[in-house]
Amino acid sequence: MKSFNMGLNKSVLLLFTLLFSVSFISAQKTYTSFKLGDIWEDTEGVHINAHGGGMTIVGDTYYWFGEHKVAGGHGNQAWVGVGVYSSKDLYNWKNEGVALAVKKDPASLLIAGSVIERPKVIYNKKTNKYVMWFHHELKGQGYDAALTGVAVSNHVTGPYEYLNSFRIHANVWPQNFTESQKEHARKMSKEKLKWGEGSGHGVYFLRDFEVGQMSRDMTLFKDDDNTAYHITASEENGTLIISKLADDYLSLSNEYIRVFPGGNNEAPAIFKQKGKYYMITSGLTGWDPNPARSAVANEMLGTWESLGNPVRGTEAEKKTTFRSQSTYVFPVIGKKNAFVFMADRWNPSNAIDGRYLWLPIEFENNKPIIKWFPEWDLNFFKLKTKN
Ligand code: DGJ
Repeated sequence: MKSFNMGLNKSVLLLFTLLFSVSFISAQKTYTSFKLGDIWEDTEGVHINAHGGGMTIVGDTYYWFGEHKVAGGHGNQAWVGVGVYSSKDLYNWKNEGVALAVKKDPASLLIAGSVIERPKVIYNKKTNKYVMWFHHELKGQGYDAALTGVAVSNHVTGPYEYLNSFRIHANVWPQNFTESQKEHARKMSKEKLKWGEGSGHGVYFLRDFEVGQMSRDMTLFKDDDNTAYHITASEENGTLIISKLADDYLSLSNEYIRVFPGGNNEAPAIFKQKGKYYMITSGLTGWDPNPARSAVANEMLGTWESLGNPVRGTEAEKKTTFRSQSTYVFPVIGKKNAFVFMADRWNPSNAIDGRYLWLPIEFENNKPIIKWFPEWDLNFFKLKTKN
């Protein structure tokens, strides 16, 4: 009798477990397309929390790193750290947890309440390590510190060990600053210039020459030959700086250039197609959207040529980049010349509710362009490559 009861109990338990799992599985949303600007649930049904994100590809898996935001206005500070999600199909994302955690120790620069933005991760073949860089602002100092931070891990999802945050290229001249430009910058810095006027002439560059250049919105780009670059908004966001990373990717080399001096570019995203390097950036309007820009170069440390606004659509869409700001462009695994533009639709008063806009990159007269699709899927590229 006893063993019969136990058997019955076990069967009831099994039935419950089965019913529970079936109802749980069926409650989970499975995505088969990108729906722009909607809540995007992870595999546990929670809106994905990876803002200002970047994408790292390992084998057949995508890893989406981003800022973990919390509810409310103070959610733009880092109270948790950098989150990471994984996916094989780009639509359905599993939360892999916190890749880089903020510190409780008040002596650490990475203390909770500092600002961590736009984290990007690349794999270093020589050291077999994953290296994360991010924009870092110190707690209680607004955006004045303007540092870049670096962390490292043996595993793509972390935990990442925080190494340091710093200003860049102290006492090092860029490759593309000529003697006469230096002379001109010195002359201009003696005159009392207004904010916008001084930037292009290298006035802020000279101001920060000894303490190191500012580094705010940033991204990384790893080339086919494993050379990697750090691209950042410097000089009070007036000028971009592109720097070659050291071989282990843990520091910047002294090889760097200033790009679009005084052009006020933020939110850089780089990709390479058919041997050319393309850059998409935004203008400078805080959390508010503005028209995107694009540029092309034959070499990362070469001459960048402006290609104008990549957005095609209505005037409102062009003015606001579909109410979003660029963060990254990544290639689709297994497809040729297929790139996805990742952007954020920020919500500064409730940061956790920021939305994601991913759109396919198209080309028109050799220029990258972005059009609006409220919903699309990866078949887009199949159709495109047939043309
Ligand atoms: C715009 C930048 O692109 C964001 O990453 C963030 O730094 C905001 N500015 C802060 O205002």
